[in-house]
Amino acid sequence: MNRKYYMLIFACAVIVSCKNSETSELKEAEIEFEETNKVSKEEITIEPEKSYADIGMEYAISTKAILGKNLIGTIQQKGTLAAVEFCNMAAYPLTDSMAVKHNAKIKRVSDKPRNPRNQANELELQHIAKFKEDFLLGVNPDPIVEETSNGVRFYYPIETNTMCLQCHGKSVAPEVYKSIKALYPKDEAIGYIENEVRGIWSISFDK
Ligand code: HEC
Repeated sequence: MNRKYYMLIFACAVIVSCKNSETSELKEAEIEFEETNKVSKEEITIEPEKSYADIGMEYAISTKAILGKNLIGTIQQKGTLAAVEFCNMAAYPLTDSMAVKHNAKIKRVSDKPRNPRNQANELELQHIAKFKEDFLLGVNPDPIVEETSNGVRFYYPIETNTMCLQCHGKSVAPEVYKSIKALYPKDEAIGYIENEVRGIWSISFDK
């Protein structure tokens, strides 16, 4: 009788101690989970380091946005003819203002330029050819990034959409084209259809 009683107490003690270790293990696991969770939360809030491609793309997109917004606004308020003059007057100052803001050199260059100042150089022409191939194959072009000893050069295509064709398309209105020709006697930038490579962003900045 006595022995049975002791054995019962012993069994209870084992069960209780097991339960205890179970709960403490659970606690530990919980703490561990919280800790790892905390770390990963912190990791999410830390901004990932931007690549040179990301930086170049940011400069290109913000410049495109400011040019596009002003161009569309002018076309809507004053018409295409007035917008030709707007491009003539404002394309450079607006692009340069973004270059100053980003502390970068920002150019729009083309293999068929309207403004002769925007003629692509040898290297830029090669990149234009590469982007045109991408467009033909229907692949999404990756930006081209070249690193020099202390700088970065970034290239990305500038694509036509239907709006562009008013001034760069196959059938530009005669009065619009007359004005373009008066400002740019050597204009080569017509005959495009939509979704073509009109030129590229050629952007350089310090590392
Ligand atoms: C209202 C007429 C007009 C429209 C619309 C227009 N452009 Fe132009 N574009 C011009 C003029 C004028 C220039 C020359 C600007 C200069 O002197 O820097 C130009 C220059 C450019 C250049 C610089 C290279 C070059 O040829 O000198 C690019 C790239 C360009 N346009 C792309 C576009 C794209 C893409 C669109 C549509 C999203 C577009 N343009 C819509 C009139 C227009």
